[in-house]
Amino acid sequence: MQSIVILISGRGSNMQALLAAELPVAAVISNNPQAAGLAFAHAQGIPTHALNHRDFSDRETFDRALMEIIDTYQPALVVLAGFMRILSEPFVSHYQGQLLNIHPSLLPAFPGLNTHEQALQEGVKIHGCTVHLVTSQLDRGPIIIQAAVPVLANDTPETLAARVLAQEHRIYPQAIKWVLQDKLNLTAQPAATIASCNSQSVLY
Ligand code: GAR
Repeated sequence: MQSIVILISGRGSNMQALLAAELPVAAVISNNPQAAGLAFAHAQGIPTHALNHRDFSDRETFDRALMEIIDTYQPALVVLAGFMRILSEPFVSHYQGQLLNIHPSLLPAFPGLNTHEQALQEGVKIHGCTVHLVTSQLDRGPIIIQAAVPVLANDTPETLAARVLAQEHRIYPQAIKWVLQDKLNLTAQPAATIASCNSQSVLY
């Protein structure tokens, strides 16, 4: 059966949304042994692994060890859910087309960290989140689905983050279902590879 492996670094609320959506989660792995999400997954009877990146001399060695664990599950997809590590080129190539990420902004706006602070500083009126395929360019792979939320006059990074997070929990299970159901079409364009689905690709 097709399964997914989820990588987390902390709280794991997106992971919880994927479990609640009854996706076929084979395992949850974290680079942070203290990640709250790991304890939650363990309590649900999901196989969990903690692989502390601090125990490895460099990024590629850690990524190789991570790949070894992931590959024991032979997942159809590897799902980054708040996995706060930059991935090495060998890792990204190994899972090409099988590696998904959720990012808390409407990419290509605000890649990287502190996206809600960036959105408030720029004064954008619409913000949101993006599920995309991972490529070797940080936060730049083909976009599968986005959800938009209004930015309100009295928003703080925290209130805006909460409004975006509620949408993350909605669109990530949807995107993964599309990919597992083979509904994703990839089209090479001059500037990028474009992903599209049979269903609507933007939710408000
Ligand atoms: C989520 O907002 C996710 O989009 C973001 O981290 C948070 C994790 O929350 N990911 C990134 O910023 C990746 N660049 P969670 O642990 O509760 O799912």
